[in-house]
Amino acid sequence: MSYRIRLEPSGHEFTALPQESLLEAALRSGINPRYNCSNGTCGDCRARVIQGQVGQHMARDFHFSERERAQGYVMLCATHAESDLVIQADEANSPREMPLQQVPVKLVKFEPVSDKVGVLQLRTSRSNTLRFMAGQYVRLEMAGLPPLDVSIASCPCNGMHLYFHLHRDSEHPLVAQLFAGQHSGAALTVHGPYGELSLDDDSPRPLLMVALGSDFAISKSLIEHAVNLELTQPLRLYWLADAATGHYLDNYCRSWMDVLDDYAFVELHTAAALPSQTEIADLLARLQAASPSPAEADIYLAGPESFTTACSAGLLKLGADPSRLFVFHRRQAMRG
Ligand code: FES
Repeated sequence: MSYRIRLEPSGHEFTALPQESLLEAALRSGINPRYNCSNGTCGDCRARVIQGQVGQHMARDFHFSERERAQGYVMLCATHAESDLVIQADEANSPREMPLQQVPVKLVKFEPVSDKVGVLQLRTSRSNTLRFMAGQYVRLEMAGLPPLDVSIASCPCNGMHLYFHLHRDSEHPLVAQLFAGQHSGAALTVHGPYGELSLDDDSPRPLLMVALGSDFAISKSLIEHAVNLELTQPLRLYWLADAATGHYLDNYCRSWMDVLDDYAFVELHTAAALPSQTEIADLLARLQAASPSPAEADIYLAGPESFTTACSAGLLKLGADPSRLFVFHRRQAMRG
């Protein structure tokens, strides 16, 4: 059994199971309610039940006055649904509204997935998860090493398990240490999130994602968020990579066919890490010939600046709307 929850004033809707908190249900559905501790202490997730019945999901330290209780105030993290609900709650609607956080994390795993790319998995404590939006990046800090800015490769619906795609050619010593296998039990701190772009989930236009190499991480976060939101418009993913970087999650990309109504994945191979002008021209020709066209779509470009600049210029010539072209730049420094 699940209940239908509507948030006011946004009108966002999601389903909640009786055994999960309203906060867990909202995050799982790609909604961004205001929250912090997730354990009933801080009061940041306070919201007002306008219609329906709720139950207490867990004990909470934060106390409401008699008057607030009578008005229907609850903590989303400490409350579960016992009927369909209408709730008045604050939500973050853009990355600018995300609070800057400093979150201690443990390194769970670092796994090389191709000659050049490794997937880093970090875990926060249950009570201090990272709140972010798809497409944002963070600063990783480990004692004795300079900080590393890196895009988040995972879905904002899970702020506890964070994934990153690190490129071996980065000049950063943390990346070098990880590839050298020196990482067991490491403790790090995540600062952020940073970045002012995310998925415009209010737009009904088709989605066109173009990523180069390990900047696929950004597209992955955006697409996972789109899946969570159950967006129904056409979605196309074009992923360019050289042989050393590889399309290291190609099967995962294909698996989105099972959950997206109208989805296609195109793997494009480049001779080197940075595509040549001819290879970019080939990409643009494919985009021009495809449906939906660049003129019809919201376009999300991810890669180093030289790549996104060349692609953006070509896409505008193909009729892309400049206000619907979202460019995400590579965060990891690269040689060459
Ligand atoms: S998030 Fe802190 S009380 Fe709910």
